[in-house]
Amino acid sequence: MMNFMERTLIKDITNKKGQLVLLKGWVDTRRDHGKLIFIDLRDRSGICQAVFLPKTDIYEKAKDLRGEWVIELEGQINERPKGMENSKLPTGLVEVEAKKLNIINSAKTLPISIDTDGMEIGEDSRLKYRYLDLRRERMQKNIRMRHQIIQFLRNFLSQRDFIEVETPILTKSTPEGARDYVVPSRLQAGKFYALPQSPQQYKQLLMVAGLERYFQIARCFRDEDTRGDRQPEFTQLDVEMSFPTQDEILGLMEELYVKMTETLFPEKRFIKPFPRLTYKEALEKYNSDKPDLRKDKNDPNELAYAFVVDFPAFEWKESEKRWDAVHHPFTKTQNPDNLPEKEFIESLKKNPDKFLAHQYDFVCNGYEIGGGSIREHNPNILQSVFEIMGNKTEAVKEKFGHILEAFEYGVPPHGGIATGIDRFVMIMMNEPSIREVIAFPKTGDGRDLMMNAPAEIDEKQIKELHLKLK
Ligand code: AMO
Repeated sequence: MMNFMERTLIKDITNKKGQLVLLKGWVDTRRDHGKLIFIDLRDRSGICQAVFLPKTDIYEKAKDLRGEWVIELEGQINERPKGMENSKLPTGLVEVEAKKLNIINSAKTLPISIDTDGMEIGEDSRLKYRYLDLRRERMQKNIRMRHQIIQFLRNFLSQRDFIEVETPILTKSTPEGARDYVVPSRLQAGKFYALPQSPQQYKQLLMVAGLERYFQIARCFRDEDTRGDRQPEFTQLDVEMSFPTQDEILGLMEELYVKMTETLFPEKRFIKPFPRLTYKEALEKYNSDKPDLRKDKNDPNELAYAFVVDFPAFEWKESEKRWDAVHHPFTKTQNPDNLPEKEFIESLKKNPDKFLAHQYDFVCNGYEIGGGSIREHNPNILQSVFEIMGNKTEAVKEKFGHILEAFEYGVPPHGGIATGIDRFVMIMMNEPSIREVIAFPKTGDGRDLMMNAPAEIDEKQIKELHLKLK
């Protein structure tokens, strides 16, 4: 009925006094005041008040309206009567005098309320009805701010000559210290893809490919127990550079996070330049490798960014009786005495615990929000690192042969970092968990309650995938 008029967004009505506009959205609330019917109408841009006058054609129709019905409303923007202004609403000086009403869709009573911050509602209900939960103002803010943050990251890095490259999701195991999610192959019987715990090997291979400056807003998958700051799938800003120094990488990250914070969160205070602590100092002084350096932990606008550097290269894993890389095996071990390759490898094999790594973490308010390293690009040293970690020579070939071979064709020195986007948004929005800043997160035991995943698959699929269930 109203399609000859262009839609106006609610936020734009304040400077259209006296004009007829067409609004589209959800009924936020309905109030009957004696003879008048008021509704608050909501769209993605805001909320406004509409009034239905008695003895008009649409007055009777308006009586039916209930919360969350979807409507089109044509009306005239009027100044509100003196004393009726609402200073809490950006549109609070005006109201819409309804002239035409089209009910597009009615709605059942919602199973959860959406006019609060939602913290009082059981999380199972919030996740089952996530599409409703996301309608609440707090969640709308979080999801929209997440977009702005990602946009800022993309623009900042693109302006500095980085390019975004997508890397495969169906791939082979890359060790980041968690269990892999695996996908059975239909065409290759008995074989499995692993979902990437991070794009680590691909981004290094992109350096071999000569791209020099890579980034990606990358989804990572880790089958580990979920916590407030951990999800089985999460998002990283993943970065890799050729010919970098450690200072260049940390400097780039610092500039990025300073500019992003100052632009998107001008109310936040933080210390610049970001303090840099060695791993040893952090443990001695704060008893933590991700110390919370805030002066007042109750202040929602205080941030304490810092870098922790010089991590040990290896740690003894008692449960598996073997040495493990503290970050990941691709990290370059420090060689402070400039030992020639052969002696360095011998010394490394003898005393893995004596060496530090070119590895750094990025922390904020006691959370690890990023980590990275300069990579070992010497294939002989890399091979011995895999062996120190307990891999037999044959197994190294099988698991990492592709990267060792790639490094034989002219590999630039390279290094990088990955920062957790979910954790960053959580901290900036003062949320207690990353589930509050992910549109469709999983429960503590890894379920999607809305889609009901994971789910059984049918007999035919199981057969096609060459699987037998126990
Ligand atoms: P790392 O494993 O340290 O490094 O991960 C980088 C950052 O990702 C975030 N993060 C997570 N966020 C939510 N849920 C999780 N389960 C989760 N796991 C990690 C953290 C962390 O600091 N490939 C390397 C990076 C590199 O060396 O360049 C890597 O993934 O904020």
